[in-house]
Amino acid sequence: MPALTDRFGRLHDDLRLSITDRCNLRCVYCMDDDVRFRPRDELLSVAEIGRIAKVARSLGVRSVRVTGGEPLVRREVVEIVATLAEMGFEDLSLTTNGTRLAGLAAPLAEAGLQRVNISCDSLREERFPEIRRRGRLEEVLGAMEAAEAVGLRPLKVNVVLARGVNDDEILSFAEFARTHRRIVRFIELMPLDSAGAWCRDQVVPSEEVIATIAQRYPLEPVHVAGDQAPAERYRFVDGGGEIGVIATVTRPFCGTCNRLRVTADGAVRNCLFSDEERSLRDLMRSGADDGMLVAAFLGSLADKRAGHGIDEPGFLRSRRSMSMIGG
Ligand code: 5AD
Ligand code: SF4
Repeated sequence: MPALTDRFGRLHDDLRLSITDRCNLRCVYCMDDDVRFRPRDELLSVAEIGRIAKVARSLGVRSVRVTGGEPLVRREVVEIVATLAEMGFEDLSLTTNGTRLAGLAAPLAEAGLQRVNISCDSLREERFPEIRRRGRLEEVLGAMEAAEAVGLRPLKVNVVLARGVNDDEILSFAEFARTHRRIVRFIELMPLDSAGAWCRDQVVPSEEVIATIAQRYPLEPVHVAGDQAPAERYRFVDGGGEIGVIATVTRPFCGTCNRLRVTADGAVRNCLFSDEERSLRDLMRSGADDGMLVAAFLGSLADKRAGHGIDEPGFLRSRRSMSMIGG
């Protein structure tokens, strides 16, 4: 049996690696305006990131997604991507808010990055700052073009929907997906904001998203054997491309979860919503050998629960917000 199989038989071959908790935006569903960042020396160094990735690779991790915070605010991001690319992961991708991608797309692709996910929650210039507090839509749209121009394809666009905020843009995003042949993915709002303001009423159920789009543009589900991705995929029946929904809250996909996470300060986590953590950084800084890092990964996996339980009465929010954990 592969090393990274948990007690529920789930194989974990996907690693989300956060390389910074910092960000140049302050999306309302993620960071408070007065969020505090960790001192830089608490974050993993490039060498430490490389060492963790190597151990993960030896354990059978096949795909890595670089995240943050905003990974492109870290100066060494190209070097980090190059280090990961050399390790032969089958899939190497990065999630970004797009504000700094235009200038970095080419060096990142050259360093071995294969794909990017760009977050964009509104296609209306005036609404953009209401959600993200900083930055401009134009920069993000430019980043999408820059990414595609250097072959970072297929481009995925992440849209976090919130009731009364941007749920009137579902069809505009569907049309955007069709026009540009970009895979738009609608994500249910999760209780991961640093202010702790999330409430269930703000969640726009994925089922509603699909129904709204299908009424106008008929959709059919896309089934890929063995696919463990959280997104449920749909294609436009008329051949107009594809969209996806990520129904973390209303239709949890914990049963096929294949992810492990490493936070910007070097803790391995087995779930976005569980605070069970083991610090790989502290192990490395106290002279641990790779065997001890392997043990920490396996210990984290052994503790992994069957599901996140967001909808259960005893659910407790994570003490860390999305930007600390890595999306
Ligand atoms: N709920 C849902 N998605 C979130 N993201 C950040 N915070 C939340 C939240 N509270 C998304 C970002 C990005 C990805 C990393 O996670 O928009 O697309
Ligand atoms: Fe920054 Fe992403 Fe959080 Fe928005 S969601 S504040 S872009 S880390």
